[in-house]
Amino acid sequence: MLIKVKNPADVTENDVTDAQLFAQRRSFIRASGQIALGTALGTLFTPSIVDARGQPLKAKKNTRFNTSETLSSYQDVTSYNNFYEFGTAKEDPAINARHFKAQPWTVKVDGAVNKPGNYAFEDIINLNQLEERIYRFRCVEAWSMVVPWVGVSLASFINQFQPSSKAKYVEFTTLYDPKRMPGQNRAVLNWPYVEGLRMDEAMHPLSMMVVGLYGEVLPNQNGAPLRLMVPWKYGFKNIKSIVRIRFSEHQPKNTWQIAGPKEYGFYANVNPQVDHPRWSQKRERRLGEFLKRETLMFNGYADEVASLYQGMDLRKNF
Ligand code: MTE
Repeated sequence: MLIKVKNPADVTENDVTDAQLFAQRRSFIRASGQIALGTALGTLFTPSIVDARGQPLKAKKNTRFNTSETLSSYQDVTSYNNFYEFGTAKEDPAINARHFKAQPWTVKVDGAVNKPGNYAFEDIINLNQLEERIYRFRCVEAWSMVVPWVGVSLASFINQFQPSSKAKYVEFTTLYDPKRMPGQNRAVLNWPYVEGLRMDEAMHPLSMMVVGLYGEVLPNQNGAPLRLMVPWKYGFKNIKSIVRIRFSEHQPKNTWQIAGPKEYGFYANVNPQVDHPRWSQKRERRLGEFLKRETLMFNGYADEVASLYQGMDLRKNF
């Protein structure tokens, strides 16, 4: 992962545009495009045949999990991404994932679970019971953002498959399809991308399975159609475009740990006291801001999650 620090001269008008205005402008542009094309063809397009990206999602605001910090701009959240399946530069995923089709989508559930199977996305995500949670998100590369994520609690998502008592860990795998994910044609990582959580981390009320952001369907570059959000951990734990969920007795090996075992661990809890071997983790740059800010223990969620790691040496279990 490379660090790119935003320079004040790089700030565009969109960086200072309020998200709602930006979204309205986008849907206006989209609508006017449809009308122009529709008129040319002598008909008007109906929303059902418009690409699902950008479609609004109904979600209840969860006030328990919230922050009053300023939201990062929609533009930053959807154009400054890490998604190596679509290229290694921050701007690559928004460009290269443009035509990715995230529907239909099937998730394989297996391992130590009472209800294994191949499930259609629609059968495991109830779009009528989504919630919005505003979380801080801190990348291991020392930049951060604040995002209104839309999804369900990971615990409720997992419970529908009834993990057995042997399930001590849960492993998530991203789609492997080099034709659709061109970055997989280069051996930059051990494909497919894999991540894992201890069961108590996965079942913690803060952990989320995400299907949208900013009130709309998850853009491809952010991991459509479903990705993790575990806000007290470094960003790389939040695996995108998940196709497999496996429950096991043993701790899985996650992709970044395989790529650099001295630099990236299994736990990856945000910790300003444990530096990355090549850079400090004490401070971070919030996207859209110029001055760095202090990084908070467990990304500011210590009251909720510190007890999960009681008695563990967090320097060893980084
Ligand atoms: N998931 C997959 N499959 N591939 C990736 O390259 N990058 C991770 C994580 N999930 C990544 C992934 C990293 S390093 C980060 S910081 C976050 O996604 C970035 O999420 P965002 O682009 O939505 O900000």
